[in-house]
Amino acid sequence: MTMYPIKKIRSDFPILNRIINQHPLTYLDSAAAAQKPNIVIDAQAHYYRNEYAAAHRGIHTLSAESTDQMEIARLHIANFINASREEIVFVKNTTEAINLIANSWGHNFTNYGDNIILTEMEHHSNIVPWQILAKNRKIILNYIPLTSSGTLDISSLSKLINHRTQLLSISHISNVLGTINPLIEIINIVKKKSDALILVDGAQGIAHQPVDVQKLDCDFYIFSGHKIYGPSGIGVMYGKKKLLQKMPPWIVGGGIVQNVSLIQDTTFIESPWKFESGSPNVGGIVGLDKAIAYVKTIGIDKIYAHEDQLIHYATNILQKIPGLILYGPKSMRSSIIAFNIGTHHSYDVGILLNQYGIAIRTGHHCAIPTMNYFKVPGMCRASFAMYTNKEDIDRLAHGLTKVQCLLNQQ
Ligand SMILES: Cc1ncc(COP(=O)(O)O)c(C=O)c1O
Repeated sequence: MTMYPIKKIRSDFPILNRIINQHPLTYLDSAAAAQKPNIVIDAQAHYYRNEYAAAHRGIHTLSAESTDQMEIARLHIANFINASREEIVFVKNTTEAINLIANSWGHNFTNYGDNIILTEMEHHSNIVPWQILAKNRKIILNYIPLTSSGTLDISSLSKLINHRTQLLSISHISNVLGTINPLIEIINIVKKKSDALILVDGAQGIAHQPVDVQKLDCDFYIFSGHKIYGPSGIGVMYGKKKLLQKMPPWIVGGGIVQNVSLIQDTTFIESPWKFESGSPNVGGIVGLDKAIAYVKTIGIDKIYAHEDQLIHYATNILQKIPGLILYGPKSMRSSIIAFNIGTHHSYDVGILLNQYGIAIRTGHHCAIPTMNYFKVPGMCRASFAMYTNKEDIDRLAHGLTKVQCLLNQQ
């Protein structure tokens, strides 16, 4: 078996050379935003230096090149998740994709008394758009409950499904607990009892697990570019072709029309382009294309195996620190580890760790219902990526021991 090329990978991410507060950067906040390899940074710079123009707008060379780059990227992204090109919609991020679905599909295909199933571990972006839809369309939201081990109580799912269930919207991986949800098992249960659509929020899944939308048989799979080593401001919504064809555009305006008249209804172009109104973020798309190519070169299976080793290594070390409370499941857990030091506020821990150059995420992680379940105002979260190494985790453990001493002295 070939060794995981961690040294080479780390050398591809220039930011990892930063010194923060006189310490080498220990970046453990990749679940919030993954760092970018040179290939992504260079591709974007090259595009802006040499090829930049408005895509889908002009007939001149630069515009045609921009359009080509965008459409080639669409094909590569489709291949990456085993979809077809017409099923890939470019959006700003995961949040925008969920809002698109809630507003386009939700407002047109749900009715009074229908219900939608979410889970108690969702990010706010996968709760709030549905709450607004539920209020407007008078539909009911039900939640698959969390368990104290940080997994979903799947035994209670069957009871939530009935012939009025229109959608299950569920995260692939919890952004707080790292739980890898057993999607195939859950989707099978839903499909046996209803014709509900399945939306998978892949914000935390896409960079850490192989994704095959055919195997999952999901109707939507969505993710943000910035969590898979791509630029901010670009994301992807996969939707089954037939479904996208039925759905009306949501954000409307230029670039997506067949005809506009002052007296008749506007007619729109085909999907996926009818969902991409306004000037597209081609620079972002170029960067995302390269980020996905980079992930493919390393191999998503290898990345998963590397991160899985790190999770076991980190759990073993961290659980030896007295007073440290770990949250989340013991197995089927991705590259995220959430904890608190006794009752100390996560902000205090995060600020002190930053003094040692250690970047973690603190607070409620846009998942207040999850915090409420565990009866805490916030948690500390260390999250890993393909470039994280054991030294990062050793530095975290060492830093936490020092932080604990400091906090306990107060
Ligand atoms: C599970 C999950 N869903 C949705 C989002 C929202 O992603 P974005 O802010 O890129 O729209 C996040 C961001 O952290 C997330 O972790």
